[in-house]
Amino acid sequence: RMATDNKLRHVTSMLEVPSGAGKISALHAVILGEALASEENDLVFPSDDFARQAHVSSPQQYLEMYKRSVEDPAGFWSDIASQFYWKKKWDQPACSENFDFRKGNISIQWFKGGLTNICYNCLDRNIESGNADKIAIYWEGNDPGFEDSLTYSQLLDRVCQLSNYLEDVGVKKGDAVVIYLPMLMELPIAMLACARIGAVHSVVFAGFSSESLAQRIVDCKPKVVITCNAVKRGAKAIHLKDIVDAAFAESAKNGISVDVCLTYENQNAMKREGTKWQEGRDVWWQDFVPKYPTTCEVEWVDAEDPLFLLYTSGSTGKPKGVLHTTGGYMVYSATTFKYAFDYKPSDIYWCTADCGWITGHSYVTYGPMLNGASVVVFEGTPTYPDAGRCWDIVDKFKVTIFYTAPTLVRSLMRESDEHVTRSSRKSLRVLGSVGEPINPSAWRWFFNVVGGSRCPISDTWWQTETGGVMITPLPGAWPQKPGSATFPFFGVQPVIVDEKGVEIEGECSGYLCVKSSWPGAFRTLYGDHERYETTYFKPFAGYYFTGDGCSRDKDGYHWLTGRVDDVINVSGHRIGTAEVESALVSHPKCAEAAVVGVEHEVKGQGIYAFVTLVDGEPYSEELRKSLVLTVRKQIGAFAAPDKIHWAPGLPKTRSGKIMRRILRKIASKQLDEVGDTSTLAEPHVVEQLIELADC
Ligand code: WTA
Repeated sequence: RMATDNKLRHVTSMLEVPSGAGKISALHAVILGEALASEENDLVFPSDDFARQAHVSSPQQYLEMYKRSVEDPAGFWSDIASQFYWKKKWDQPACSENFDFRKGNISIQWFKGGLTNICYNCLDRNIESGNADKIAIYWEGNDPGFEDSLTYSQLLDRVCQLSNYLEDVGVKKGDAVVIYLPMLMELPIAMLACARIGAVHSVVFAGFSSESLAQRIVDCKPKVVITCNAVKRGAKAIHLKDIVDAAFAESAKNGISVDVCLTYENQNAMKREGTKWQEGRDVWWQDFVPKYPTTCEVEWVDAEDPLFLLYTSGSTGKPKGVLHTTGGYMVYSATTFKYAFDYKPSDIYWCTADCGWITGHSYVTYGPMLNGASVVVFEGTPTYPDAGRCWDIVDKFKVTIFYTAPTLVRSLMRESDEHVTRSSRKSLRVLGSVGEPINPSAWRWFFNVVGGSRCPISDTWWQTETGGVMITPLPGAWPQKPGSATFPFFGVQPVIVDEKGVEIEGECSGYLCVKSSWPGAFRTLYGDHERYETTYFKPFAGYYFTGDGCSRDKDGYHWLTGRVDDVINVSGHRIGTAEVESALVSHPKCAEAAVVGVEHEVKGQGIYAFVTLVDGEPYSEELRKSLVLTVRKQIGAFAAPDKIHWAPGLPKTRSGKIMRRILRKIASKQLDEVGDTSTLAEPHVVEQLIELADC
């Protein structure tokens, strides 16, 4: 290990890159293949064979491409963009931006003036280049034995029928369409159908409650909501349409009504009989959509026309509508997909994310399909019928690239390895991780047990806001360090700043920011450009602030350390503490609540809620359950607190600000690190809380 480290440093001087990557060595080329993953050695090399066939096969090659991408971003990305179909090429500079609020409003534009269509580029373009009969989607249902598939040309037919239907019911360019569907093929079909006609889709994860769905409907006022009658999760059937009905009732209170609710009859879960129905508004997909023609004219849109809205949690209670536009997002999602996973046309690719999150947008639908990939779409859960399901699916479809979240890795790691080893998995060649930091022990299990020590892991750091992967190993290029997302993607200039916003060089830790734009960056928060500027661009002038902490080691590797704002990352799902707090205080017996994240063995972070009851209410198990239920109802099951800690009072400063730092220490039982409590308005509340910890 010492010897390897020294070699690494020895060659560090050979190459120097612009900010972000820091100093990086070319040692890889020298000792490639010599070292293998082991507990003592924190460098893990791609095999010779892998590196040789990779798009980027050495640090040197990466550095050359990276250098150009940051020195001449317009040129670098224009060359790539030219590989897509443009009805009309952009007639303005490929990129124009203002990243500094002191110089006026924040604005980012890529390929402005260019006319294109992302659905055309995903489907028609691939079909014309000879991929008509290639499988676009392999679908695997919740229950083993339920499966389906579509070739690229079949997928185009389905998409066109839905586009025609949507146009027929009055959806026009720029109109919003909310999609509330589980992982059926109809979900990517619906996204692509919207994109084809220039409508703006907003997918809402089908685990969100009716109230969360209503909040999003009220914000973006869709003409149409697309859903299904029911879905099976594991052994349980859930009536999705009932949730949508409840959301409609809720939105109506805010004066928002939806014209059409297109409902797919998901027969695998439940027949349509018995579904509550409102004539005039509710329409069965199967009764209408298949009657429409299988061709549909493309709406050519400006590169800067909106493609989709995706709501995500921030540090206040109101979810933020992250807005992505067409051209830059298209180029970025496709390019990151190709390089981060070393994608080749012969690959079979499976990402376990749901299309309700950004990972499903960029790496189930758009990125892979722009590359003409065969994508596995899985409706079920990884532990049903047992913990070997994922590996059965890998063998069944001969999956070569498998992209998932650390929480899934950790949950399967707890089960017996026999669930893994009963499968062959020999088709696998690249693994991916996203959503939260992957701890080194989970990394090693993923690498050794799942990947048979053969498959590089792309630990991809990115966000809803960034549209695509930002920091990631290129699997053939770098020796990896388990738990590090390694180096920036092309065109991305990450910087680490201190509290004052001053960039820190070399080995350091601080706040992760990004200098200047990349094509996949979000352009605004829907209807609230001011919040966009305040949240992301004002904390550190001149930079995009990610909300994450990060450190960089002596070799220039990046290590993400988690959120530094009031956002908790539970099983890779972003949840604002304020959202959970506002759900809790809506309970009639809750006077006040403060929520913090606490380390959780499987979920990464768990939700820990301190709750003050209204005067005189006694603590009871029943009340605890009812508080948790309130959160499930208002946000969704995935946001349910893991722990309710009764709090006669909360630690506050004299000006009334809750001291979350202290609450975090109490929650994680680091009582000797609670620190100075003398500045609190009522210092004794801390002792009270400690006493009630196990109540
Ligand atoms: C976290 C998901 C460490 C991070 C694509 C970020 C990660 C938030 C990683 C965004 C990773 C995502 N290593 N942390 N590889 N990937 N994160 O918007 O805190 O759902 O800010 O996007 O997840 O979550 P979001």
